[in-house]
Amino acid sequence: MSVVVVTGSAGLVGAEVARHFGGEGFDVVGIDNDMRARFFGPEASTVANRRELEKTLGSSYRHHDLDVRDRDGVAALLSGYGSAIAYVVHAAGQPSHDWAAREPATDFDINATGTLNLLEATVRAAPEAAFAFLSTNKVYGDSPNRLPLVELATRYELAEGHASTAGIAEDMTVDQSRHSIFGASKLAADVLVQEYGRCFGLATACFRAGTLTGPRHQAVVLHGFLAYLVQCAMTGRHYDVIGYHGKQVRDVLHAADVTRAIAAFCAAPGIGEVYNLGGGRDANVSVLEAIAIVEKISGRTLSWSHVEQARAGDHIWWISDTTRFRSHYPGWRVERDIPAIVAELCERW
Ligand SMILES: NC(=O)c1ccc[n+]([C@@H]2O[C@H](COP(=O)([O-])OP(=O)(O)OC[C@H]3O[C@@H](n4cnc5c(N)ncnc54)[C@H](O)[C@@H]3O)[C@@H](O)[C@H]2O)c1
Repeated sequence: MSVVVVTGSAGLVGAEVARHFGGEGFDVVGIDNDMRARFFGPEASTVANRRELEKTLGSSYRHHDLDVRDRDGVAALLSGYGSAIAYVVHAAGQPSHDWAAREPATDFDINATGTLNLLEATVRAAPEAAFAFLSTNKVYGDSPNRLPLVELATRYELAEGHASTAGIAEDMTVDQSRHSIFGASKLAADVLVQEYGRCFGLATACFRAGTLTGPRHQAVVLHGFLAYLVQCAMTGRHYDVIGYHGKQVRDVLHAADVTRAIAAFCAAPGIGEVYNLGGGRDANVSVLEAIAIVEKISGRTLSWSHVEQARAGDHIWWISDTTRFRSHYPGWRVERDIPAIVAELCERW
């Protein structure tokens, strides 16, 4: 079992995962058709990441310009490797709420049906493989917005003494809230990934991620908040803070920390697991606080203004409680805090 299949292998998470397993001596089979350029335009293209992988990993990286919607193509590719496949990391996806509303059927075909195609191909070709899926905290819809929040000078924060002070855990309801079309397609995929564990015994995990980023993030206005903010500061582009006066809070996790979590699961997988994954209390920030940190580290002043109308369903406060994952994998922790992440993003420019 020496092959790792990575979908979305040229994207932020996929490229980091591919680099990790390639460095560990696995043969990495990458699937990515640069749909990100179709979603968000040429500046979002992930082709440069693909070229970097081909250069750094050489013959241990094989790229397939395949669409995860192509059920027969995905099945044929995985059956060609069969039981040599040790792990499947499914990171291909349509990642934006706003884009999903423009083309709901395309979003669902990629996020939900694409995931079904990968699960089905894996269970037939390599039933012993571990399957890690990049899900999202949007599976909880906007239920986090029902938490009692207090408005502080630079952020919203949970009311003192609340049970979720450490962050939001996996027991939050996924039902009867506003998910966005994107959240709905990811929730369908998330439930399928769980069921392929429960029904067919496949070793699966859904990583319900908060905000993820890293220096290879091809950030655009519709996706990649912190990397896009840094990009605006470094290039002089104007930044719109959308709603909540910039006090909405997100936790942020570096793609390398995401990769270490996925690698830990792959090495000792459970079945049908769900994990909230994010920077948690170690790495979280409001938009206002992020602007201050970016300006301090970059030495640049960001041109920004506030748009009153918040995005429908946007989380006002999201901090992941990673207790469940850390209790299963005690060696994992958040290694990069917000200033370290911002410094790395600034360095890229
Ligand atoms: N980045 C975040 O903040 C974040 C947060 C929560 C969840 N996630 C999830 O993690 C996963 C990875 O996110 P990311 O930030 O690396 O995204 P990304 O857009 O950087 O990477 C995804 C890659 O998948 C490819 N892709 C898209 N559709 C495809 C298709 N039909 N066939 C083949 N390849 C396709 C894209 O070209 C892109 O290179 C996504 O599923 C996303 O929903 C991301």
